[in-house]
Amino acid sequence: MAENNSNLIHVYLDDEDEPIVSYRPPVRFELDTTQLEDGHHTLKVVATDATGHKGVRSIPFEVRNGPGIDVEGLQDNDMLEGKVPILLNAYGGAKEPFWEPSRAETPAPVPTWAWVLLLVVVAWSAFYIAQQWNVPDEYASSPTYSLFTGKGNNTQSAEQASSGSKANIGATLYRTSCASCHQGNGEGVPGAFPPLSDDSVVTAEDPTRHIEIILFGMQGKAIDGVEYSAAMPPFSQQLSDKEVAAIINHERTSWGNNAPTVTAEQVQKVRVKGNSD
Ligand code: HEC
Repeated sequence: MAENNSNLIHVYLDDEDEPIVSYRPPVRFELDTTQLEDGHHTLKVVATDATGHKGVRSIPFEVRNGPGIDVEGLQDNDMLEGKVPILLNAYGGAKEPFWEPSRAETPAPVPTWAWVLLLVVVAWSAFYIAQQWNVPDEYASSPTYSLFTGKGNNTQSAEQASSGSKANIGATLYRTSCASCHQGNGEGVPGAFPPLSDDSVVTAEDPTRHIEIILFGMQGKAIDGVEYSAAMPPFSQQLSDKEVAAIINHERTSWGNNAPTVTAEQVQKVRVKGNSD
């Protein structure tokens, strides 16, 4: 018997008196947790040497083969009063052969902030697309477009109608140099950038002031009683007389404006004379 016990390892589970296995070391064995209840257990290993001394080692562990349990509405040591709604869910036991993820998702309504965020994003993208939407020149000057929008070129002067490309240069330059502030539709941005449609400078018979503003810029002047903190940058360095004339004529014949157009020579005279302001 003594010989039997020496150099043997006995493995006990929890408080059981009988070892679940006895081996001669070293040994590798398989603990089948599926036979155990979920919860806390202890594995106790007892080894005896030739002189009869015992070494004991206890290893606490936890088994979880059953489904995970999700509780909403109640936490450890919560203080409860009255009736408390509690949402329970269970998912994914280790013994389940087919794992259905949808059952792991505890049902909860989409939070309001997510809807608000979605709405904001959608509204912003719609606004952005509308802002960026530039009607192609060929289409913008076609009768179809003006028919639908009333914004086409049917107010253009005879001079421009005869040279369509000139109007296109003006529209293109306006789009690249001016529309970021005054907007493609010439409406500006209230309080930040003045509108150019139905504007007294843009529709004035005498274009001198109009030419000066494009060439030399403008700052700190109230327009129709509105102060604009931003400055209108000067364009005399970037744009030729011809280009300035094309832009001015685009402004003067777009968005319902119908004012006399200017020539590159007129622009050149103002450029030479300098800012009268
Ligand atoms: C950086 C923004 C910005 C850009 C780009 C810009 N402007 Fe302006 N523009 C302004 C601001 C701001 C004012 C008003 C300044 C003030 O009130 O002192 C203004 C004023 C004007 C005015 C005078 C309106 C009036 O009634 O006095 C005209 C005309 C004008 N801009 C045309 C243009 C044209 C044409 C271009 C392109 C070549 C252009 N702007 C580019 C910001 C801009």
